[in-house]
Amino acid sequence: MKKERAFTPIAIGSMTLDHRIVMAPTVHEMCYDGLPTDSHIAINESYAKGGASMVCVGGANIDPDPAAEIFPGVLSIADDRCLFGLWRLAETIKIQGPKACAQIYHAGRGVARYGYQRTGQLPLGVSSKLPYMGAAFYEFSKEGGKWSFAQVVKPTPVREMTKQEIERVIQLHALAVLRAKRAGFDAVNIHFANVTLIMDFMSPHTNVRSDEYGGSWENRMRMPCEILQATRAAVGKDYPLIVRIPADQGIGEAGIQVDDVVKEMVPRLEEAGADAIDLSAGILDLSPHYIIPPMYMPRGCYLHYGEAVKKATKLPVLVAGRLCDPKLIIKALEDGRCDIAALSRPIMADTAMPRKMLEGRYDDVRMCVACGYCMTPAAWGRMCALNPELSRELLLPKIEQAEKTKKVLVVGGGPAGMEAARVLTMRGHQVTLCEREGELGGLLRVMSASPLTREWRTFTRWHATQIEKLGVEVRLNTEVTRALLEEMKPDAVVVATGSSPSKEVEGADLPIVATEDDVLLKRVEVGNRVVVVGGTFWDVETAMKLAKDGKDVSLVRETETVGMEGLGLLKGFPISTKMLSESGAKLLLSTQVERIEEKGVRIVDASGVSSLLEADTAVLSLARIPNKELYEAIRDHVSEVHAIGDCVKPNNVAEAVYQGRLAGTRI
Ligand SMILES: Cc1cc2nc3c(=O)[nH]c(=O)nc-3n(C[C@H](O)[C@H](O)[C@H](O)COP(=O)(O)OP(=O)(O)OC[C@H]3O[C@@H](n4cnc5c(N)ncnc54)[C@H](O)[C@@H]3O)c2cc1C
Ligand SMILES: Cc1cc2nc3c(=O)[nH]c(=O)nc-3n(C[C@H](O)[C@H](O)[C@H](O)COP(=O)(O)O)c2cc1C
Ligand code: SF4
Repeated sequence: MKKERAFTPIAIGSMTLDHRIVMAPTVHEMCYDGLPTDSHIAINESYAKGGASMVCVGGANIDPDPAAEIFPGVLSIADDRCLFGLWRLAETIKIQGPKACAQIYHAGRGVARYGYQRTGQLPLGVSSKLPYMGAAFYEFSKEGGKWSFAQVVKPTPVREMTKQEIERVIQLHALAVLRAKRAGFDAVNIHFANVTLIMDFMSPHTNVRSDEYGGSWENRMRMPCEILQATRAAVGKDYPLIVRIPADQGIGEAGIQVDDVVKEMVPRLEEAGADAIDLSAGILDLSPHYIIPPMYMPRGCYLHYGEAVKKATKLPVLVAGRLCDPKLIIKALEDGRCDIAALSRPIMADTAMPRKMLEGRYDDVRMCVACGYCMTPAAWGRMCALNPELSRELLLPKIEQAEKTKKVLVVGGGPAGMEAARVLTMRGHQVTLCEREGELGGLLRVMSASPLTREWRTFTRWHATQIEKLGVEVRLNTEVTRALLEEMKPDAVVVATGSSPSKEVEGADLPIVATEDDVLLKRVEVGNRVVVVGGTFWDVETAMKLAKDGKDVSLVRETETVGMEGLGLLKGFPISTKMLSESGAKLLLSTQVERIEEKGVRIVDASGVSSLLEADTAVLSLARIPNKELYEAIRDHVSEVHAIGDCVKPNNVAEAVYQGRLAGTRI
């Protein structure tokens, strides 16, 4: 039988990969003083065990200057003191089978986020005319004897590099690749995309120099080409060099677009010594949603770039970007839309995804839903919402056979309850999962009801498949009460009863008011003029969904900004605010909701002026209320009971799944 192209070997220069599914560079901010910690080693080990043919360790900083550090916790490859740690990383990966690749980069303006704050030294830039736009600073001030605190986003000025500094940075790249080779890495990915100094040299948006490193394409490509030439001189002609570039910067004609990549960039990089082209997209401060595409963007969103670039080169082309679906990957490779599928978040969500694909177990793959949680400040070490093991490899208790098998009742089929049921059954317990609705999923059902956020349904499907395969007894349309519990007599109970929508606003009982759950699940009619009373990190999505349905929507929020807090950071900002304005919905920030009236929502704006925002429907998207009643009714009547997820404190999917995983190992 003919083997699918995905599972055939491919060469990158002198290196041959066993198949075409690789781990894309993924930084985990788990290093200490630039050196890998045990946690950093462990996460890369789990990637290596998952069956990818190559694991590319996330970006390592090449500049020893403390001012050049982009975030705390990143890996350094800037001097020889890093060699042992780098060797440990490479060896850990290779022992498990895959090829080990190191990514190296200079963050240029991007260091405004940390290096500048630490040292006060201005970031190195192509040109001083373009500051870094998005560095967040915390500011305290004292007025009238009182302290106040705010997070402000300020542009950071940049220092234009001299020729000597350009030469130094070229040498730093070559030395870093040499170090990676000495440490035992099979290949290096040189990062010229996303948030790198070299991307700024290539881009017409950032490069406004007038010397031989600016102006024409030839001049703007001089820096990356000289880096490749210097590197080749250092490591020899056989050492595999992959070059990561933006296929599109996501800012239209002002930036790099795929035609430029095809005509101007790839031929020069090939000529200068690249062995493979790896396509990313976006600029960190202007189009972060291109770098790490959220669920609003389609699966495989960069495959068309792969297709275009493949026509321009014989070098292997790697493509990243929402390749979460095994069938899509197989087809994309079969159709020649890329030569290698580079997966970052899909492997974070399921580190064994490549192995499961090799074994044909597509249904078992827990697909990344592109929810953006991994990029939020809450996700230390870059945790995954769906995969509680990730970044906690050394912290979580292992899933092992329980000492004593118990009869366990799990109440609630949301993400918390399903995860608990899965893990408990894997450990040998006899589990019954009761869900009062006719379907599993809990609030994931509500979230999946909107086309914008439909991806969540894959997570419910995965959990449902796993618990079915494991033999969990699932009872739908079954509300657990104290009476039912007494009848069932479980040894232990996990309560995962979730939350209810809040109606804590005056006038919430009026007929024009609807809860978000009812609206999204289409349990109520929504009028033409809608006011969404916001307050959650997903209210923008609800407003956008209604605007897309053709409603005249206003979203009212107390906050000064939208999408900068909590989970909104990546999934919601800046793309969702742009989408919201494109959808025609109006955004009313710094606005209080006084009460709901029969004809609309009474609001008070930032200057204290009260007015009535006329509406046919007022949709409440307020902080939720935990469903604690069952837990409180049973906790003194069952010997072992654990409450998890939103019924303890309404939060998010990551927290619900994590608590489910923990409960699964506590009984
Ligand atoms: C519109 C919306 C958008 C959201 N967007 C995001 C997002 O983008 N990212 C994110 O991370 N989080 C998001 N959330 C939050 C997320 O949905 C919750 O944090 C998560 O679902 C909590 O999981 P859970 O299992 O604890 O509770 P739930 O998902 O609420 O599940 C609880 C389940 O228990 C069942 N149940 C309750 N009582 C009983 C009983 N007595 N007997 C049997 N069954 C019972 C319920 O029917 C329900 O199925 C969103 C929430 C909403 C409402
Ligand atoms: C947590 C995280 C860390 C990342 N770190 C890097 C990095 O160090 N270097 C890089 O080039 N890209 C990095 N990326 C981008 C990914 O390599 C990839 O291009 C992007 O996430 C889109 O692909 P995906 O949908 O498979 O995640 C990172 C992405 C994530 C989610
Ligand atoms: S946190 Fe969300 S976006 Fe990140 S890997 Fe997990 S599922 Fe994907």
